[in-house]
Amino acid sequence: MSVVAEAKHVVKRYGTITALDGVTLELKRGKIVGLLGPNGSGKSTLIKVLMGFIPPDSGYVSVLGVDPYEHPDIRAKIGYVPEEVKLYESLTPKELFDLAARIRRTDTDKYYRMLETLSNALDLRSKLHNLIGSLSKGYRQKVAIALALLHDPEILLLDEPIIGLDPIVARVFKEILMELKRRGKAILFSTHILELAEVICDRIAIIHRGKIILEGTRDEIVEQARERGALEEVFLEVTGKRGEVEELVKAIREEII
Ligand SMILES: Nc1ncnc2c1ncn2[C@@H]1O[C@H](COP(=O)(O)OP(=O)(O)OP(=O)(O)O)[C@@H](O)[C@H]1O
Ligand SMILES: [Mg+2]
Repeated sequence: MSVVAEAKHVVKRYGTITALDGVTLELKRGKIVGLLGPNGSGKSTLIKVLMGFIPPDSGYVSVLGVDPYEHPDIRAKIGYVPEEVKLYESLTPKELFDLAARIRRTDTDKYYRMLETLSNALDLRSKLHNLIGSLSKGYRQKVAIALALLHDPEILLLDEPIIGLDPIVARVFKEILMELKRRGKAILFSTHILELAEVICDRIAIIHRGKIILEGTRDEIVEQARERGALEEVFLEVTGKRGEVEELVKAIREEII
C-alpha cells in the first residue's frame, strides 16, 4: 500500500564486484528512508538503479509503476541529488533552473513559486545570476538540491545530500525534508551522518557489502542488533567495523597524537 518505488532481489555486478547482492527495499508516500552503510557498500549503486541509469543484472525495480531503465521519462517525477554534483559551469543557477523547467515541462506558476521558496530557504538569491563555475562547493550543492526539488517531484532520491552544507543550511534542509514528507513525498537518502538519520527517518536500512543487513524503524534496528544502544554502536557492530575502528583509534593514539 502506497508503495511508490521498490527494488526486489536486485543484483548488480561491475565485473567481478557484486555491488548489490539481492537488495529489496520499498519507498512509500510520506515516508523517509535513510540508507546507511560503509564506503563501497552499494548505496550509490542502489540509487542509480532506482533512477534507471543502470539496469539490474537480476531482480527488478519499479518506480511509479514502471521500470525506470525502460522508461527514463519517469525521471521527471523524481528529484535526484547525485553523489558528485556536476553542473554546467558556464550557466548561472537561474539559467540552469529555467532550462530544467523547460525540459521537464514544469507548470510555469508552480516553477516560479518553488524557485522563490527554495532560493530563499537555501539562501541562493544572491547567487542566482553568478556563473556556476564561480560558486563554492557548498553553493553548488545548494544549486543541486534546488534543481532536485524545483519540479515538485513525487519521489526524492538523495545521495549524501547534505555534504558540504554549513550547519544552518543543513538545518534548513532537514526542515525542507520534513515538510516534503508531510506533503506525501517518498524520500530515500543516503548519509554517513547517523544522528541525522536517527532524527528524521521513518525507517533505516543498513547496507553492507551489497546486502541490506538491517531494516526497520530506528527502535526496531537497535532492538534487532545484539548490543543495544546508540545507532552508531549498532552500525559498527553489524558492519563488523567495531574491531577495525578500535584498532584505528589505538594506532592514531600511538602514532599520531
Ligand atoms: N562504475 C563502476 N565500475 C566498477 N565498480 C564500481 C562502479 N561503481 C561502483 N563500483 C563498486 O561497487 C561497489 C559499491 O559502490 P557504491 O558507489 O555503490 O558504494 P557506496 O556505498 O555509495 O560508497 P560511498 O559511501 O563511498 O559513496 C564498490 O566496491 C565500488 O568500488
Ligand atoms: Mg556513494
